[in-house]
Amino acid sequence: MDTIYKKVDPCDIDIKIIKQAGDIIRGGGLVAFPTETVYGLGADALCGASSKKIYEAKGRPSDNPLIVHIADFDSIYDIVKSVPDEAVLLAKRYWPGPLTMIFSKSELVPKETTGGLDTVAVRFPSHPVAKEFIRMSGGYVAAPSANISGRPSPTRGEHVLADMNGRIDMIIDSGECDIGLESTIIDLTAGRPMLLRPGYINEEMLKETIGDIDRDPAVFGTVSADEPPRAPGMKYRHYAPKGSLAIVSGSSEAVRDYIREKTENRTGNERIGVIACSEDADKFPSADLVADAGDRMREEEVASRLYGILRRFDDENIDLIFSEEFDTPRLGLAIMNRLIKASGHNIIKV
Ligand code: TXA
Ligand code: MG
Repeated sequence: MDTIYKKVDPCDIDIKIIKQAGDIIRGGGLVAFPTETVYGLGADALCGASSKKIYEAKGRPSDNPLIVHIADFDSIYDIVKSVPDEAVLLAKRYWPGPLTMIFSKSELVPKETTGGLDTVAVRFPSHPVAKEFIRMSGGYVAAPSANISGRPSPTRGEHVLADMNGRIDMIIDSGECDIGLESTIIDLTAGRPMLLRPGYINEEMLKETIGDIDRDPAVFGTVSADEPPRAPGMKYRHYAPKGSLAIVSGSSEAVRDYIREKTENRTGNERIGVIACSEDADKFPSADLVADAGDRMREEEVASRLYGILRRFDDENIDLIFSEEFDTPRLGLAIMNRLIKASGHNIIKV
């Protein structure tokens, strides 16, 4: 399959290109598109056969449900059974934006889209290109992140091209995603609202709006066989770089010393990479590649760079990666949730 690749400036949207993309979705095809979090791989959410193609293109297990993207709040009433008060409050505050809410689904949503579940995840993104694209596609676009299953989510058009060229009909490239980590997911279908995946809309922001919430244990990555995570996707080893990744945890000085020692006294000829904040980036001269994750005080920067960094280590064939911890106040939970999963829980305490 030839993949059409088009650049669209979010500040000056070429509506002809968006219409072409919308026609592909209405015809049952697949289009990757930008959002404020990461790039999505879209299909018509109300057509089971179209959603199924997403699983094939990504190599995604078919029990891992997709998020349905909408472009105005009222669209929700056709695809869910009921809208709890908390959802209205959260939507007023954070939609359009990087928040996904889980509802009981209506008959209109096919099981292929929800991985066989009776619930549906819904998100109303704020990216101007995403909104226009969803409207032109009929209003309901099922979309996971536009990466091959198991690779880091794409935050630039080039990342999507690297994973999806020849597998999907079209890619819309609107440059770098603002946030760089996937949306926050909250489940509103059973009792107290439960955080299933941390993201830019953090726990404090959710609590300010709807009071206390629970946290799925899988948020910390502790998944046991008897208690599967509520977001099925959280049980897979996502965001995995090709090399082995270890997170080094402890005081900043101890962490720096440990990583420096590892890069200076190698036991073999493996290529070693380091993920460090800007302040520390020049402290590891013997490493083969040091990725500057951004100023430690600027959490947004660290979040938005993370997936691009993990991909760079793959491109440069790095065998061993040591990362500093980024336990920052607002986005620390979201950043560390991704890093811990990428490392397969490989945390070295120093
Ligand atoms: O920011 C985002 O959310 C991006 C962009 C493209 O919008 N999308 C995204 O999709 O991250 P994906 O498929 O990579 O992650 C969706 C997560 C998975 O862990 C999935 O298991 C969970 O949402 N999920 C989807 N529907 C669900 C449901 N009905 N109940 C529980 N978890 C659900
Ligand atoms: Mg994903």
